[in-house]
Amino acid sequence: MLKRVPISTCMLLFALLFAQAVNAQKFEGLALTPPMGWNSWNTFAVKINEKLVMETADQLVSSGMKDAGYTYLVLDDAWMAMERDAQGNLVADPQKFPHGMKVVADYVHSKGLKFGLYNCAGTKTCAGYPGTRGYEYQDARFYAAVGIDYLKFDWCNTDGINAKEAYTTMSTAIKTAGRPIVFSLCEWGNNKPWDWAEHVGHLWRTTTDITNQFNGIKKFGTWSAFSAMKIVESQNAIRKFAGPGHWNDPDMLEVGNGMKVNEDRAHFSIWCMLAAPLIAGNDLRKMTPQTLSILTDKDMIAIDQDSLGVEAYKLAEKDSLDTWVKPMKKGLAICFLNRSEKAQTIDFNWTANPLADDVSKMKVDFKQTNYKVRDLWAKKELGTTKKPFKQVVPAHDAIVLRLY
Ligand code: GLA
Repeated sequence: MLKRVPISTCMLLFALLFAQAVNAQKFEGLALTPPMGWNSWNTFAVKINEKLVMETADQLVSSGMKDAGYTYLVLDDAWMAMERDAQGNLVADPQKFPHGMKVVADYVHSKGLKFGLYNCAGTKTCAGYPGTRGYEYQDARFYAAVGIDYLKFDWCNTDGINAKEAYTTMSTAIKTAGRPIVFSLCEWGNNKPWDWAEHVGHLWRTTTDITNQFNGIKKFGTWSAFSAMKIVESQNAIRKFAGPGHWNDPDMLEVGNGMKVNEDRAHFSIWCMLAAPLIAGNDLRKMTPQTLSILTDKDMIAIDQDSLGVEAYKLAEKDSLDTWVKPMKKGLAICFLNRSEKAQTIDFNWTANPLADDVSKMKVDFKQTNYKVRDLWAKKELGTTKKPFKQVVPAHDAIVLRLY
């Protein structure tokens, strides 16, 4: 005779299964390393159109950026018409995209790239276009039909709704529509997405918007944008929440958007150390060879894209000279980031600085293990960790060493 299972056990089993189903809504395996690509917002804001997308797709390929790993071309806010159609479907702005969005997506795909769009969890996007609230499943079907591969989902005009619920609904809608899409949460870190979004999306913004400034903040009336270094300040505390498939996103790159070359190099260095998504935000049709060489530096990208997926931790900070250490699959990377206004001398004695990281469990005692050292920007072998590293790092610049 079958033994009767107590009702409380049934309820427990049901609750466990339900929790699992709710926790498993995103497409897993889509962003095992931080996503890389290009987004229109930082340079073009609402001034986007079909020609820009096609020229940018061409540039991604011809410049070598695609080969370096930049595969997602993402259109940010303002690609839509101001109203949905009579059936409630989103419509591409007919002036900006006269052939519709499918043609644009197909063109991007024909270049071997992936295509992304933007919308918002609220009733309207930040720039005032139709938001997704109440249309999650319908919009997800639209994205699947257009053939997008990436959705950035913003947080304006959300009138006090619950972020975890809103993003979970959209994530489930994407899953239900059936096309694998990288889901990028953009609620600026307001609701601590690192606590709940691991299975909701593939990356989540950690702060307010970046601006093309090295230090400080920029005020815009009711809100402030952060400089690259201001963003860096809050990243160490949340590093443990990132990993393969789910990344902290300190926002898109401002490389090539008006900072000095050394500042761009420092900004890019620390983004790679943080295993940040590398989403270029410059006009690729006008970029200088210097900008291109920073964005496509193979050694730096290898740090960012390391399969271990562990963010760097801050080992030390003195006079605005930070030392960051990134445990890697093989060896590690160390970055001396000079956020200050003056050149500073690094005198780093490896044997006096054993390393231990709680997150990756990496432990290195340089008295016992000897590594080769390579200066990645200078492209120079520097010998081994038996010899202390002594060098000047200019103001607003960074030195990145690879230990292997
Ligand atoms: C917000 C986002 C930005 C950008 C704009 C578009 O501010 O944080 O990255 O998408 O909206 O309006």
